Formats: sequence, C-alpha cells, structure tokens
Amino acid sequence: MKKATILAGLTFALVSGVAHAQGVTLTFACDSVGSGYDQCKKGADAWAKKTGNTVRVLQVPKETGDRLALYQQQLGAKSKDVDVYMIDVVWPGLIGQNLADLSKSIPKAELDQHFPAIVKNNTINGKLVGVPWFTDAGVLYYRTDLLQKYGYKSAPKTWAELQTMAQKIQEGERKSNPRFVGFVFQGKNYEGLTCDALEWVNSFGGGEIVDSSGKVTINNPKTVAALKQIQSFVGTISPQAVTTYAEEDARNVFQGGNAAFMRNWPYAYAAGQAEGSPIKGKIGVAALPAGPGGKPAATLGGWQLAANAYSAHPKEAADLIRYLTGKEEQKRRAIDASYNPTIASLYKDQDVLKAVPFFGSLYDVFTNAVARPATVTKSKYNQVSNAFATGVYNVLTKKSTPEAAASSIQSQITRIKGRGF
Ligand code: GLC
Repeated sequence: MKKATILAGLTFALVSGVAHAQGVTLTFACDSVGSGYDQCKKGADAWAKKTGNTVRVLQVPKETGDRLALYQQQLGAKSKDVDVYMIDVVWPGLIGQNLADLSKSIPKAELDQHFPAIVKNNTINGKLVGVPWFTDAGVLYYRTDLLQKYGYKSAPKTWAELQTMAQKIQEGERKSNPRFVGFVFQGKNYEGLTCDALEWVNSFGGGEIVDSSGKVTINNPKTVAALKQIQSFVGTISPQAVTTYAEEDARNVFQGGNAAFMRNWPYAYAAGQAEGSPIKGKIGVAALPAGPGGKPAATLGGWQLAANAYSAHPKEAADLIRYLTGKEEQKRRAIDASYNPTIASLYKDQDVLKAVPFFGSLYDVFTNAVARPATVTKSKYNQVSNAFATGVYNVLTKKSTPEAAASSIQSQITRIKGRGF
C-alpha cells in the first residue's frame, strides 16, 4: 500500500516535471487605466502561446503613485512574486536598484529603434532598468461638432482663448444639458496633477520646477500667472469636482458627451472612438494651449517594462519584455488602443497613421515633451512631486493664493534638496 502511494507520487512528480520543463509561469504587474488590463493580457497571451509559457496578469492600482508604493514594498522585501513590472518614466531613479539589467537581453539593433532619450532615461549607472514600451504626452481633446456649432474654426492656441471658447460652449449647451462643462483635466492631488500643472507652468514660460542643474526654479512670476489662470477655471468652465478627477474621471465626463475640452493622454482617443462611444467621430486632438508669450508644453509620460532583479525566471522575463516592446506588438497597441510607440519608424507607418492620425500631425509634441524633474532629483523625485502637486492643489481648492503656493513649494523643495539630490 505504502509502496504504491510512493510510486504514484513519483509518477506524478515525473509527469509534472515534464510539464514544468515545457514552460514557466510569469507574473506580470501591468496596467489598469482604460483598456490597459485587456491590452496587456492580449500581448502577454500571444507571447505565452508562442513560447509555451504562461503569464498571470495581475490587477494593479489605477494611480501611478499607488502602484509605486506597492512595488517599492515588494522590491524592498526582495519579493519574487512579480517577474515583470510596467514602470513609469519617472521611476528608474526610485526603484532601479531592484531591477534587472536588460542591456544584454535586447539586441542592440532592436534597442536602437527606440527614441534615444527614453533609453537614456531608463539607464541608471550604465544599467538598462527598463525597455521603452509606450510614451505619453499631454494633449488637448475637443469636440469638433461643438466648435463648429459655436463658430470656431480651430482649437484654442492660448489658455485665455480656451477659457472664452469653453465659457461660450458651456453656456449654450447647458440650456439642454445642465451637466455640461467647458473643460476637464486632472485636478486631484496626485502625480497626474504634477503632469498637468507642469504643462501650465511651462507653457507660461515658468520653467520645469527644478532645472537640469538641480536649481529649484518654481517660485517665479510666470508660475504665479499660470496658477492664477487655472484657478479661475475651477467653478467656472471646470466643475468644482475637477479637484477630485484623475485621468479616467475626466475621460468619463468627456466621453459621455458632457465636456467641450479635455486634457488627457493619447489613450483616451481610441477609447472615445470605440464602437458605442457617444462622441465617436466628433473628437479633435491638438497641442495644449500656451500662456501669453509662451509656447505649448506637453508633459512627458510613458511606461517601460522592467524585470524584477529577484525573479526566479530572468530569461523568460526578459524574453516577454523583448516581445512586448518589439515593433509588431507596439504597432498592434498603437492601432488598437492609441498607445504611442517608442519606436520612431512606427510614426511613419500608414496603418498606424490611419488609425491615429494625430500621431503624425502632433509628432513634434511627442518628441519635444517636457520631462518632470525625475532624473535630477533621483530618489527624492516622489517627495518633490508631492510638494508640487499639493501646492497646486491648494490653489485649485482656494486654500492658498498662487503667490503663497509658489513660495511654499519653493521652500519645501529646497528643504528636500538639502537632504540630498
Ligand atoms: C500617465 C503617464 C505617466 C504619469 C501618469 C500620471 O500614465 O504615462 O507617466 O505619471 O499618467 O497620472
């Protein structure tokens, strides 16, 4: 009896040993905004099918800051639970020490296809901690039908023009739709507000919060002017509740047909053009407006794929990353879900341009986007960004004047700098 059990156990071990040799199971912490999860799963499943491995795609928090906190905890404990992470463009300096060096896993010819600035951003002390997957830049969405209805020929070039146009459209539309608003954006106190507010400040000529030499520059008259203008939007052309909005909250209002303008990332385009969307065929995309005498600014966002340095399956993890960041999959994601490729040649691909025409018309916006000061502030970036977003949030909620906020952000970031960056 006992012998038989042992034998049965042995047979089972042998059989499962064989099954094991056929493939491993990778765990992938990917996306959750918009169709992010489904798109990650599609790509991962295609790789799994091709290689005989399995990928478990996790549900991850929606906001980048919440993801960061969770991943820092896992990596800090040297956990093997996740093999592949999708990491934000501002994270390499924050978690790079716990990520594998992928420079030997991606052939140079393939790596050279990506925008060099992103590869450089992802290289920490000579280590390639993430392979570029998709890039992001803030853009202005508008309703082409409503601009026409109210007699406007093109999207606003300045924030003041946006204000006038949004006001007029809002007044007209409210007669039949009391919920209608002029402009929605990301006004909640989180990383998304850092992105939006950097665009306001930079487009007024107010700099980049901290410059590339590490000098804290935020307290200047142009920052104050930018904050004043946006403060005046809240409760007029933007709902009071915009100070609770992240990307998806803004998109839901715009896609529901209840806003004239929206600031968002490119993913919102495919979502708005999808079958069943009330605004399908009525979406225009333009560069964001500028301040007086300034130029439009788009914050650089985007995501990379990284391998956990403690993964039990480093080879398979690197292979999954190579597949997903490759040209074919980037093309699929651009067409299906308007994710901006990090491979320059895809911006000339006719199938891509047909699906997402603004990848061609706004090419300069994507290649000249303004970076958040992550590289220069290194491990302190998160604290710097929190100080900035909180100061701006206090202005939007009228807890603080623009002057007081600019001065308080300046002194807080200077204090953080004193602790080293
Ligand atoms: C987008 C950007 C990312 C940014 C985030 C803020 O996901 O790609 O870089 O940090 O939005 O909400």
